[in-house]
This record gives sequence, C-alpha cells and structure tokens, in this order.
Amino acid sequence: MLSTLQESVQFLRQQGMHDPEIGIVLGTGLGKMVDKVKIIQSIPYSRIPHFPVATVEFHQGNLIYGEVGGKKVVAMQGRFHYYEGYSMQQITFPVRVMKLLGVKQLLLSNAAGSMNTNFKKGALVLLDDHINLLPDNPLRGKNLDEMGPRFPDMSGPYSREMNMKLLHLANKLTIPLYSGVYAAVMGPNLETRAEYRFLRTIGADLVGMSTVPEVIAANHMGLPCAVISVVTDECDPDHLQPISIEEIIKIAGEADGKLSQLFEALIGEL
Ligand code: HPA
Repeated sequence: MLSTLQESVQFLRQQGMHDPEIGIVLGTGLGKMVDKVKIIQSIPYSRIPHFPVATVEFHQGNLIYGEVGGKKVVAMQGRFHYYEGYSMQQITFPVRVMKLLGVKQLLLSNAAGSMNTNFKKGALVLLDDHINLLPDNPLRGKNLDEMGPRFPDMSGPYSREMNMKLLHLANKLTIPLYSGVYAAVMGPNLETRAEYRFLRTIGADLVGMSTVPEVIAANHMGLPCAVISVVTDECDPDHLQPISIEEIIKIAGEADGKLSQLFEALIGEL
C-alpha cells in the first residue's frame, strides 16, 4: 500500500505538483470551486499510477493542481463512492496521496439529504460530527503505522479552527451556514421514510453516501479537515416527496457558487 502511494506521489511530483498546501475534494454537482483555481496542471485520474478510475458520468475525474489566493492547492474533481464498487482503500487513496504530497489541510464538499427541518433545499451545512453507517472502514486490516495510529481518536474529527474560521467568514460574507451531524450510508438508493426517521432519531441532521471514509483517513493521518454539505433534498419522513438524481444535481449546482465563495475565502485565511 505504502509503495503504491509513493509511486503515485512520485509520478505527480514529476508532473510538477510540488508542495500543495491545501487538498480539496468536490462532491456531486459541486465543481465550481475549480473555476477559482488558477490551474497549473490538470491530470486525468486514468493517467495517475494506482489511482482508481472514475465511473460515474457526472464526475469528471481530474486531479487539479493550481493556486487559490496565492496558495497551492490540489483538488479532486470527482470523488469515489462505496456504492460504485470501490474498496475503502481505493476511495481514500487520493486523500492519502494528497497528504504525502504535503497538504496541511483538507476541504471537502458533498450533496446531502436533510432530516433537520430547519435545513431547506440549497442550505449550506458545516459538519460538526458524523455517524459512520457504511459497512466498512478504510482503516480495516493491517495498520499503516507510517501513516497513523492503529486506534485513531475521533473526539473531534472536524477541525475546530477551520470550522470557526468558516463560520466567521460566512457571517462576514452574509452566507447562511448551519452546523450539523452527517450520517454516511452505502446507497445507491435513497432512504425510505422509516430509514430517514431512524437516522433522525439516532442524531443525524444530514445523510449522504460519501465523505466519512476520507475524513476517517484524514484523521488517521493527523490531517485537519472541514466539510460543507449542500442540502439537496428535504427528508422529513412525514412529508417525503420523491426525488431524482437530476434534481439533486440541479440543486447542488444552484448552491455551488456560495460554497465556492466560502472555500475561496477560507483558503485565503489558512
Ligand atoms: N440520502 C442519501 N444520500 C443523499 C441524499 C439522501 O437523501 N441526498 C443526497 N445524497
């Protein structure tokens, strides 16, 4: 595992990806952040040794290296999901590569359903905590001692410092930003009314099919991270409306401008 990671890192360095400070992972329908990057290099995943190859058509599958506000960033345009059939090792491979390339902080976005009736479609929610309901864990198996401890602490998986900065910036930019708990499920189906009721009961505000594997791997490596979810569907079990992936992508796209503005402002302050 470590040698495959190092081969990817070596390849990317040879391509000119030197010393990125911040890693970015963009979720479904949330690509506008890339427009804020002064792109130096964009490499299709398929060219990077050992990188998983993107399958879902609305993910472009490029690793982008460039500058935002004078800081070097490396951004994943399109991430990997467990429901697509990837292993947890594959899903977290790019985040581990980013860490070995030198990133000091990680920013992630995703599209999520909301069980919290205060969070309407299009709302931005900063993750304060999560519940992992995925049937697997990226740290399962022999521990990569060089990367982190066998039993990583998870008492504060989201960087307090980054979250405080994001809340402050949102206030300054008059962008409403809520805080909440995200539950990760396998998908690919959305949830039944009974499942949304269950998720709400166990303390989740949001539900989605991504992010938590990357956050676990980041915590394992001691990489501070922050996540903003865009609410794409309202999951009140007593008033549930059918929703399609097309609508989820459309709503994510409408909120993407505000999200990118916040990420750009944060990078300026890191
Ligand atoms: N459930 C799971 N994942 C999702 C949802 C949802 O309602 N909306 C966006 N991603």
